[in-house]
Amino acid sequence: MAKVIIEPWTPAHRSLCWRLADAYFACRGIDAWTKGEIPHDATDNYGMARQHARFLAEHAAATASALAEVWVLEVGSGLGQFAANLVRALEVDTGDAGRALAPRLKIVLTDYATKTVEQAAESPNLAPLVARGTVIPALFDMRHPARLVDLAGAPLSPPPLTAVYANYVCCVLPPRNLQRRNDRWFEQLVQLSAEVDGEGPAADARELLSDPTRDSLLEELTLLWGWRPVEPAAALPSGIHTEVLEATAEALPEATISYPASFIDFLVAFAPRLSPSGVFIISDYGRVERGMLAGLTDRKPQIYGNSLAFEVHFPVFDAFADAAGWSILRTDDRNRSLHTALLRAGGAFQADDVARFDDSYRHAHQGEDLVDFYDIAMRAADDEEFDRAVRFYRRCVRLDPGSAHYRYKLADALADSGDHARALAEAMRSRELPGAKDHDFDFLLGRIHALRDDYGAATAWYERSLQLEEHQVTLTNLGTLYEHDRRWGDARAAYRRALELQPDYQRAIDNLASLGEDAP
Ligand SMILES: C[S@@+](CC[C@H](N)C(=O)[O-])C[C@H]1O[C@@H](n2cnc3c(N)ncnc32)[C@H](O)[C@@H]1O
Repeated sequence: MAKVIIEPWTPAHRSLCWRLADAYFACRGIDAWTKGEIPHDATDNYGMARQHARFLAEHAAATASALAEVWVLEVGSGLGQFAANLVRALEVDTGDAGRALAPRLKIVLTDYATKTVEQAAESPNLAPLVARGTVIPALFDMRHPARLVDLAGAPLSPPPLTAVYANYVCCVLPPRNLQRRNDRWFEQLVQLSAEVDGEGPAADARELLSDPTRDSLLEELTLLWGWRPVEPAAALPSGIHTEVLEATAEALPEATISYPASFIDFLVAFAPRLSPSGVFIISDYGRVERGMLAGLTDRKPQIYGNSLAFEVHFPVFDAFADAAGWSILRTDDRNRSLHTALLRAGGAFQADDVARFDDSYRHAHQGEDLVDFYDIAMRAADDEEFDRAVRFYRRCVRLDPGSAHYRYKLADALADSGDHARALAEAMRSRELPGAKDHDFDFLLGRIHALRDDYGAATAWYERSLQLEEHQVTLTNLGTLYEHDRRWGDARAAYRRALELQPDYQRAIDNLASLGEDAP
């Protein structure tokens, strides 16, 4: 193996990296999210869904007939969690307007990755919504906006759309990274090298793309970044882009701009599918003040799985709206972790649009709160500050009362905080919730009962847990309970089995040693 250049200096948006990202999304399916490779909680958590649900319910009430179906579409839907949470939030957390809208809502759930859409549509959260016709799975590549098809490949023509959602999608479309240095422009280039067999760039590229889901493949490539002079008109597709770029950089003698050319082309091409009051709702991370684009800065992507993401430069959308005669509302507090922009082709937003936007996005932050509270709670639990962990998990539960996950974490932290009675009540209540099967409530109940010195109940719950998954910790905990009951043979068998599962599991090694081979 030798380090070889597999892609010479190339404009960054045309790099092989993007083909690798396409291949990664095409092959990985929903494991990209469920295995924690692609972050998604900020855009699709229930708190964020409540914000979107409020906006959509009020917007639909103001703009659509009270009896008609309301059609929305999501691009780059990934795991599909957003759609499931949006429906739940409308049904249970958005008052009369939400309840009135929920049965009339149709969500066209699209992604360009067939496997992802198919798997998402079959997931427990979405399958019932697909079965009842609320969610319509479909394929859509934003780079080819004329083609919207169902999973069988038949063209789809939904009625005029009330909203189009783009969550964490603008950031994954290759931007044109451009720098203004006084009166000259430069475009970003990248050169790729990797440790490969070295049979020539084409063969090496083929080898790279042969298994795009390989762990850390993109991270193992060496990416060198550079800049070369360019005329904006040559760096950008034809159309409105040069004007938008120049307007974004106006009065910034030096600026570095991630220009979302393909996303803007998608907006323009797709706009005719929206109703006259229809809106694009873009949620992403990035920079919101034009001043934040000033200066000559590096533009490096975040790498998630084998995909790339560039932070979104929202001021470009202001310039686009201006140049195209569209209207825009957007959040602009630079300290927020997720920003939302509302774009509509034509006509200025009215005062009630602004009020709805402010109520749901500018002044609302349940989505970010959920992410922040959860993060604080997890850190507190790691630091054994269990009372603090309990307080913040409680805040998560308040924001997402139907989540078995937050309630599991709350019960676990309550147990560690010493509040065993509340831990028990919380765990017993929560194990009935949808999604509870993803958590080992039986193990948790075993632990809580053991902490309450109710060893009989603890044994029973641990044994139930073993029926779902044989785990060395459960076996070892059970072993100690068997010892307490003087069931030496059962204890020994439990420790031995734990050590078959994990030969270096120290607690089982120690317990087995202290039990001794000779105990009756
Ligand atoms: C970072 S994920 C976001 C997923 C989801 N919207 C969320 O908020 O978690 C980006 C998604 O965009 C999809 N995607 C990437 N390029 C696309 C394109 N050209 N057209 C449509 N979807 C695309 C990927 O398959 C992936 O599902």
